[in-house]
Amino acid sequence: MRVGVLTGGGDCPGLNAVLRAIVRKGVPEYGYSFLGFRDGWRGPLEALTKPLDIPAVRGLLPRGGTILGSSRTNPFAVEGGVEQIRRNLQDLGVDALIAIGGEDTLGVAAQLHEMGVHVVGVPKTIDNDLAGTDYTFGFDTAVNIATEAIDRLHTTAESHHRALIVEVMGRHAGWIALHSGLAGGASVILIPEVPFDVEQVCAWVESRFRLDYAPIIVVSEGAQPKDGDAVLQSGEKDAFGHVRLGGIGDYLAREIERRTGKEARTTVLGHVQRGGTPTARDRWLATRFGLHAVAAVHEGQWGQMTALRGTDITLVPLSEATKELKVVDPGLYAEAQVFFG
Ligand code: F6P
Repeated sequence: MRVGVLTGGGDCPGLNAVLRAIVRKGVPEYGYSFLGFRDGWRGPLEALTKPLDIPAVRGLLPRGGTILGSSRTNPFAVEGGVEQIRRNLQDLGVDALIAIGGEDTLGVAAQLHEMGVHVVGVPKTIDNDLAGTDYTFGFDTAVNIATEAIDRLHTTAESHHRALIVEVMGRHAGWIALHSGLAGGASVILIPEVPFDVEQVCAWVESRFRLDYAPIIVVSEGAQPKDGDAVLQSGEKDAFGHVRLGGIGDYLAREIERRTGKEARTTVLGHVQRGGTPTARDRWLATRFGLHAVAAVHEGQWGQMTALRGTDITLVPLSEATKELKVVDPGLYAEAQVFFG
């Protein structure tokens, strides 16, 4: 059997660890051969391939990014795209596909499965917003990077009596902000799920200054002021219709300075959160997902996605996992508010 493998969407630490586990189990145990597809769904669409054998995955465990490359190509947005994928898979002798991605990449996988393509999914995203799994790999690394940044910002904020804002990733879900904000002792955490009141944020900033302590505000890129529009960096959209976000941190700094008279500055962590080596926990999760994904192929579990439930790896239908995003529950957010201000 020949199995194609692709990585799509925003890259994330642990992708290479998944590839390594798939190949290291699939070749000796099942006698499979693997074919890497380059740049997400663009690979099967344009027949862009890369050899994926045991020598190709040597040394990959700690390496960030993806050796296959990634893109946000949506074959359903391309005229005749799906038929082209079918033809290419057939011409290349590929019997099954393992798609490693987030909501968009796996959404395509779910639709292709409905059309009879043999596909198994592996969930990845630093945002941790995929339903059906407790965690996605990449998230732990992103949270650790953001927490370290917050720790560092505390000392300089105090020296200069400034309010410092940290803008983290999270388009629709505030998981990175919530976890890193709690771990880093933020004075305010703002997430997309709960629109914020700028006046209230300023009140928390002032109360933190009154304690002779400088406030750190952690904000998800997708957070929004009450009654306000999303703060967009550009009107540009990707093939899945997502606008490019950014700018909420600068907006907050301006408002805090204007309303409190205190100096406020913003640090945008951006792609630093996605680059570099995965944490041990992400390597563990990515490796286990890879092992279970290739086992799912062996069992013919088409249309399924590997998922973490507690400490077990299980399978859930792709259609279920991509139906809606897993967002932060308001109760969980309320828990963190004890530390605000
Ligand atoms: O989807 C994951 C994510 O990290 C989002 O949080 C963020 O909005 C997006 O990727 C940005 O990715 P890119 O800069 O690659 O478009």
